[in-house]
Amino acid sequence: MSTNIEGKVVIITGASSGLGEAAARHLSSHGATVVLGARRIDRLEELAKELIAAGGRAIAVATDVTHFDQVQRLVDTAVQTYGRVDVLINNAGLMPQSPLDRRKIEDWNRTIDVNIKGVLYGIGAVLPTMQAQKSGHIINVSSVAGHKVRAGGAVYAATKHAVRVISEGLRQEVKPFNIRSTVISPGAVDSELTDSITETDFADATKKFYAEVAVPADSFARAVAFAIEQPADIDINEILYRPTRQEY
Ligand SMILES: NC(=O)c1ccc[n+]([C@@H]2O[C@H](COP(=O)([O-])OP(=O)(O)OC[C@H]3O[C@@H](n4cnc5c(N)ncnc54)[C@H](OP(=O)(O)O)[C@@H]3O)[C@@H](O)[C@H]2O)c1
Repeated sequence: MSTNIEGKVVIITGASSGLGEAAARHLSSHGATVVLGARRIDRLEELAKELIAAGGRAIAVATDVTHFDQVQRLVDTAVQTYGRVDVLINNAGLMPQSPLDRRKIEDWNRTIDVNIKGVLYGIGAVLPTMQAQKSGHIINVSSVAGHKVRAGGAVYAATKHAVRVISEGLRQEVKPFNIRSTVISPGAVDSELTDSITETDFADATKKFYAEVAVPADSFARAVAFAIEQPADIDINEILYRPTRQEY
C-alpha cells in the first residue's frame, strides 16, 4: 500500500461510471477516502456502499458539474465530513461527435458546459480550501483529443484543448500555494463515453473503433495513482497515454 495515497481525501467528479469509477475503486483500495460526485446518485451510493463494505471511507454527493453551487456543495461536503481536501479529480465529461454543419447546438452547449465550465467550477470550488491548507492536488482529465483534432470531433477536441490550457495556467498560478496540478490525456478507454454520441453514424463508427482498441479503465486509475503517490515535492504535470494498438 502506498502511504502517499493512504489517508488522502480525494474528490472525483463523474465517479458513477468509466474512468471516475475505476479511479475511485483503485484509490479506495490504496487507502484513500473518496468523495464521489455525479448526477446518478443511485450508482454513486451503490459504489460508496461497496467501498465501505470493503473497509474504505466513501461518500456520495449528487452533483451536476454545470451548476457551480452544486460543485461547491460537493467540495463543502468533503471539508465538513473529512476536514480537508487533498485531491480533486475533474473527470466528468462527454464526447458528442458530428460535423459542424449538422449544427448540433445542444450537443455543443452541453459539451462546453460539462467539459470546460465543469472543470473551471471544480477548480473555483476547491482553490480557497487548498490555498488555505497550503497543499492540494488538482487533476484535470483531457484526452488525446486535447492534442489532436479529427473531422467530426472539433467541439470535443476544442474542450479538451481548453482543459490543457486551463491546466497549464493553473499550474503556474498555484505554485505559491504548494498545490500540484496534473492533466491526464487518455486514448481510447473502455467506458460509457461513446453513449454520449447522439449522431448514429458517428456513434456506430466510434463504438466499432473502441471495440477494436480500447483498454480497460484501470489504466486511467493507475495513471491517477502514479501522479498522486509521488513525494510532495514532485509535481507530475502531464500524462498522455494510448492503447498500444491505437494509431490516432
Ligand atoms: N473513455 C475514453 O476513451 C476517454 C478518453 C479520453 C478522455 N476521456 C475523458 O474521461 C472522462 C470520463 O469519461 P468516461 O470515459 O469515464 O465516460 P463515462 O463512462 O460516460 O463517464 C462520464 C462520467 O461523467 C459524468 N457526467 C456527465 N455529465 C455530468 C454532469 N453534468 N455533471 C456531473 N457529472 C457528469 C457521468 O455521470 P452522470 O451521468 O451520473 O452525471 C459519468 O460518471 C471524460 O472527461 C472524458 O472526456 C475518456
